[in-house]
Amino acid sequence: MPAINSRSLRRRDFVGFGAVTLGSAWLGACERSADAILSPLASDEPLAARTASPTRNPLRIPSTVSAAGLTLNAAAGTTNLGGTYESNALMYNGQFPGPSIIANAGSTATIRFVNGLAQPSITHWHGMIVDHEDDGHPLQAVGPGSFYDYEFPIAQRAALNWYHPHPHMHTGEQVFYGLAGAFILRDAEEAALNLPSGAYEVPLIIRDASFDSGGNLKLGGKASGFLGTDPLVNGTRYPYLPVDKAIYRLRILNGCNARVFRLALSNNASFTLIGNDGGLLASPASVAQITMAPAERVDVLVDLRQLNANASVMLRCLDAGWDILELRGTGAVISGQSIPSGTLSSITPLVGPATPDRRFSFDGMTRINGQVYDINRTDFTVKRNTVERWQFVTNGNAPHPVHIHGASFQVQSRTGGRGTKFPWEYGWKDTVLLGDRETVDVLIRFDRAGLYLIHCHQLAHEDQGMMSNFVVED
Ligand code: C2O
Ligand code: CU
Ligand code: CU
Repeated sequence: MPAINSRSLRRRDFVGFGAVTLGSAWLGACERSADAILSPLASDEPLAARTASPTRNPLRIPSTVSAAGLTLNAAAGTTNLGGTYESNALMYNGQFPGPSIIANAGSTATIRFVNGLAQPSITHWHGMIVDHEDDGHPLQAVGPGSFYDYEFPIAQRAALNWYHPHPHMHTGEQVFYGLAGAFILRDAEEAALNLPSGAYEVPLIIRDASFDSGGNLKLGGKASGFLGTDPLVNGTRYPYLPVDKAIYRLRILNGCNARVFRLALSNNASFTLIGNDGGLLASPASVAQITMAPAERVDVLVDLRQLNANASVMLRCLDAGWDILELRGTGAVISGQSIPSGTLSSITPLVGPATPDRRFSFDGMTRINGQVYDINRTDFTVKRNTVERWQFVTNGNAPHPVHIHGASFQVQSRTGGRGTKFPWEYGWKDTVLLGDRETVDVLIRFDRAGLYLIHCHQLAHEDQGMMSNFVVED
């Protein structure tokens, strides 16, 4: 296994802001709260301050920050989830979700992650192709009061990626309580398309959640995977977004621990699908429904040019029966937009073997190929710059959203189960949904040597061991 943390300056303990100071503050928190990692600030507020009324709240749009010279401080705090909904949370820079990081292809990200939590943590840039020291492997987790410095070039195409914690066995918990944010990459190819921008480009981090009687986020159901009782969009309960008579570009991330969404619009209009995990598709596709597993992203255009003032269209999940987001008309007319119809992007197909080089069986809720994750064990090695065909199978307990660090891949086929490759599975992907009875083949090529991970992104499965270390070698 390559040396980890060879750049030893990357992790440091603070002087004067160390474990002693933080530790005593957290001890007080733990005494009063069942959740050791959360402070109990709102737990004894009167219940009368809460309401179950489904009055809709304005959708929160996360603030944007540059990837150059950023400090991300993860810590417990309280957040307003819209209207009268207040909750304890774990947040990056006090925001739920964390700020949207924006970076241009060709630039360099320099980010300090500061762990103000009571647990070890490390930040992974999901979808970013970076060297292993910058990948947020659980071996790189830093303790409370410590930090980790990242520096990596943005050497990939425009896409909606995201960031979240990746510590050994605590990822699900830290993500659930609020640690996640968008990482948006831009490039010239995307800019030339003149897609809706500014207020007409909306990041939507959609997830589920459950709440205790005090209205605080409450994680349950750890073994088989957490399914929450309510949707949250950008940390907003019952959200609405005022929309003009315009085309909107919705950049959607499934930020759930375990839930698969089947998205549709209440007016039965289709989405124009233009991108996914790895950026733009080769050409747009019109789709009435989109199935999205945790960690998958889609980039869709929604045509609201006919939507009158005060009329609304709901973004729905057909499986949960939820109206996730109300798009509420303002009546303002916007001109000069259009839905692209020709080529969006050039995607070079990977050329590789017709039969699998490797097979990964996602077994039960805790194993890959019969083995529970061991943070110190390397399970296999891969040659750099070589296209391989990887095959994913399962003996049940899906959904298993299969995610690979260190490279994007191209889905080749799905047999069994749903038996097809869906429009949002073309182009480049880093996460693919493996359902029960399904076999999914992908082609993949790693351009960087180092230690990476393959794992199930159902976070209870991941934390319980459905993860594997591998090394890419020259
Ligand atoms: Cu989004 Cu290894 O994770
Ligand atoms: Cu990842
Ligand atoms: Cu799984």
